[in-house]
Amino acid sequence: MEPIKPFIEPDFFTPEEYASIQETVKALMDKGIAEKQDKWAYFKKNTNNGFNVIFFSEVRHIPDFPKLSKEVEDKMRNRFNEVTGSTVDHVGVLWARYTKESGEIPSLMPHCDRSETHTGYMVTVELESTLDWDYYVEDEKFEMKKNQAIWFSGTHQAHWRPDKEFGDDDYYDILLFQTHSGNDQEALDMDHFDERDMYCMDVANKYRHLLEETINKTMRMNGRCQ
Ligand SMILES: [Fe+2]
Repeated sequence: MEPIKPFIEPDFFTPEEYASIQETVKALMDKGIAEKQDKWAYFKKNTNNGFNVIFFSEVRHIPDFPKLSKEVEDKMRNRFNEVTGSTVDHVGVLWARYTKESGEIPSLMPHCDRSETHTGYMVTVELESTLDWDYYVEDEKFEMKKNQAIWFSGTHQAHWRPDKEFGDDDYYDILLFQTHSGNDQEALDMDHFDERDMYCMDVANKYRHLLEETINKTMRMNGRCQ
């Protein structure tokens, strides 16, 4: 299936849905503080991205664990059904806070995702933040706003953010969710992903003037930096 043309969807969540996401994240931080004296205890610290992340799609079925409300889950699934013109199966969801509390500087190196078996439909939504941070899909720059979604095909399109200096108290929250069309019969093979990796390196090289710190970090980490 062909990748989608990236587009903006402003005001993605209703005020009620947005508030409920915030409540879920706060409940998870409160649980960490109450049980382990650490608000990040139930999040993963991901130094490659410089964010602390919770994969809500992995904790959906754990009893007594803070999870996204049915309204929020339904909103994402219904929009996927509408945009793909199909009935989607899984919906992968993560919330992440880019912060130096992750142990590294926040960054998003140009990359393609291997996390969908078929052409991916990805949506990233900006939530709370202390600073502005542009989002790029290939050559197209999106100026992000709170509660604004960007739709793209992360399995095909290099997506990235330019270097951004975070102070100790700065943070940038996102909700990212993804799936593929229920009508897609063509699984992506390894050659596709390998070819996309090479292409993403070309994109990083093309924009290296915007990615100096991000590229330096990749060398320092000696591994995939997304
Ligand atoms: Fe990605």
